[in-house]
Amino acid sequence: KMDQFISNLMQKMTLDEKLGQLNLPGAGDITTGQASNSDIAQKIKDGKVGGLFNIKTVAKIRDVQKVAVEKTRLKIPLIFGMDVIHGYQTVFPIPLGLSCSWDMPLIERSARIAANEASADGINWTFSPMTDISRDARWGRASEGSGEDPYLGAQIAKAMIKGYQGDDLSKNNTIMACVKHFALYGAIESGRDYNTTDMSRVRMYNEYFPPYKAAVEAGVGSVMTSFNEVDGIPASANRWLMNDVLRKQWGFNGFVVTDYTAINEMVDHGLGDLRKVSALALKAGVDMDMVGEGFLTTLKESLQKGEISQQEIDMACRRVLEAKYKLGLFEDPFRYCNVKRAKTEIYTAANRKEARATAAQSFVLLKNENNTLPVKKAGTIALIGPLADATENMTGTWSVAADFSKSVSLIKGLKAAAGNQAKILYAKGSNLTADSALEARSTMFGKTLRRDSRSAETIRNEALAIAQQADVIVAALGESAEMSGESSSRTDIGIPDVQKELLQELLKTGKPVVLVLFTGRPLALKWESEHVPAILNVWFGGSEAGDAIADVLFGDVNPSGKLTMTFPQVVGQVPLFYNHKNTGRPLADGKWFEKFRSNYLDVSNDPLYPFGYGLSYTNFEYSDVKLSSNTLNKGQGITATVTVKNSGSREGKEVVQLYIRDLVGSITRPVKELKGFQKVSLKAGESRDITFNITEEDLKFYNSELQFVAEPGDFKVFIGTNSRDVKEADFKLQ
Ligand code: IFM
Repeated sequence: KMDQFISNLMQKMTLDEKLGQLNLPGAGDITTGQASNSDIAQKIKDGKVGGLFNIKTVAKIRDVQKVAVEKTRLKIPLIFGMDVIHGYQTVFPIPLGLSCSWDMPLIERSARIAANEASADGINWTFSPMTDISRDARWGRASEGSGEDPYLGAQIAKAMIKGYQGDDLSKNNTIMACVKHFALYGAIESGRDYNTTDMSRVRMYNEYFPPYKAAVEAGVGSVMTSFNEVDGIPASANRWLMNDVLRKQWGFNGFVVTDYTAINEMVDHGLGDLRKVSALALKAGVDMDMVGEGFLTTLKESLQKGEISQQEIDMACRRVLEAKYKLGLFEDPFRYCNVKRAKTEIYTAANRKEARATAAQSFVLLKNENNTLPVKKAGTIALIGPLADATENMTGTWSVAADFSKSVSLIKGLKAAAGNQAKILYAKGSNLTADSALEARSTMFGKTLRRDSRSAETIRNEALAIAQQADVIVAALGESAEMSGESSSRTDIGIPDVQKELLQELLKTGKPVVLVLFTGRPLALKWESEHVPAILNVWFGGSEAGDAIADVLFGDVNPSGKLTMTFPQVVGQVPLFYNHKNTGRPLADGKWFEKFRSNYLDVSNDPLYPFGYGLSYTNFEYSDVKLSSNTLNKGQGITATVTVKNSGSREGKEVVQLYIRDLVGSITRPVKELKGFQKVSLKAGESRDITFNITEEDLKFYNSELQFVAEPGDFKVFIGTNSRDVKEADFKLQ
């Protein structure tokens, strides 16, 4: 039915109308002015627009949609996209934080709520999820992904797509997802945004592709190309990527959109002029051109010159129209324009409650000496630090639909939770950084921190004075929201010096200090981990962050988040990840230096906090691993079981993690690979058997011929509380 409908429509379309469908401009002045009078409206009338992004509200979207379906010859509706990345107006934790929940139903619900709110405001397409594997903490966009692991990344991609798209895209409360950035954007050299990528095919297939592939398997409607090159060809002109891998090997049948001006940027990549690179992009399999208008302005000439074919234009046009059809826009272009929904379904109390609970699940307790946490709701608490009263920063990067001024800051959350049971004193203690230019670059898009112009000493002394009166000090330090995210790479991934000096002075008071760490990436915290008794990593928790942090600080919620990206000791170790290769000169277990081994003179190979790590206010004990058999026959399965006991005094959640090592292969294999996990809740004193099935499928990898195979031989299975602290057993595949 869809094919017939689109064929009929396309028969009526002129070349210009077809090229118009491939054009995705930003909404420009519509967001501030009157849609029908805008330049964009004129362009829409001229049939030069297929969709718009960065436009919201039912009123504005209805206005421009009316132009498309009333003032154009063929009345083709527009598609409306937006970066709905971790929530809409109700903002959930940044994706890296969300991934630390390891809770798929929770992640799916967050995407469901985001879709519901966005669609209630007129939007029907989101540029999410970002599934780029990130192993380099210098890269600011690590904050937007699910960390370093392909298996976990794949599960999260599926959960998010299910949340956004539901099982019927034409429902008015589901939106089309867009998996990005295809491909390998997270592997850019030296962590510097938009830089070059270069890697072997076996690494692509085994370590970087699985989350994108999982997104396709989950039925993602669209794919966004990345800015970087792959095999020397920018992704937006890479036919192998889009045609061979994405469409032929994985069977993707949606449409491909470029990233923002990615076609035009191929001129700077050195591939030719705009006409040439636009033709290359179309031929490689791009369907929609975001912002740059290379398709709109040059493809006609390329067609006349015979450099592209009519069939290639038709294919791209068809795919864009199919997306609109699947969204139900031909049936009702105003399907997503319901004023009542906009009034009643956005930023609701129920959604905010869910965001608060979700944020608490994303926090990772990194250290808790002498049970410094939870803090008692009694006595005097000194809340100190530039992130303590930082309302606009709570949502973190990419929260374009949020009203930052409505977020719950830590001071607000703490005061609300303490009520009149504890006294909260507050002082800023320091600016974000000593360098005001760096602070300006790190507090963009209205995410101000209200820089204090007094001397660092004066600001600090004010804080030390209140610290003296307190029973416990809560230090809210780290990065600002825009210190991570797009175009926010860092070479020094520590807490900025001026804050660190404040922390050192606070510790000198001899009072218990809790570091509440705000960050969008793993930080190098060696000194802090050695000196501060308690560290709670709260990422950027979203619009309800302050309440959620208070829930965990006071122990109303027991933390259970587990890191999805390794924390290094020092920046010189990155990229550092748990699923690395053994090398021919590995270091013996327990050693940290041996001459002529793969190591450093000045720091051990160990991470500070490994992948999968995170503490709880209770303790979990693991039994040895019991295998149902030490032999896995091809086509059959075995089980691996551990008994996990909550040996502490309160209920808690634990993420039980299963890793496998293939000891001998036709290509080198990682020292450990995550192959399963279960998040369980155990009451104080409760024990539970946790069983994983292991099948041949779990042992498969892409060999040097890029065949997906399991090779008979010896394997190790590890089960534990993180990727380092595990119990192990051996089995054979035959
Ligand atoms: O979706 C984003 C992408 O992740 C980075 N460049 C801009 C796009 C649209 O805003």
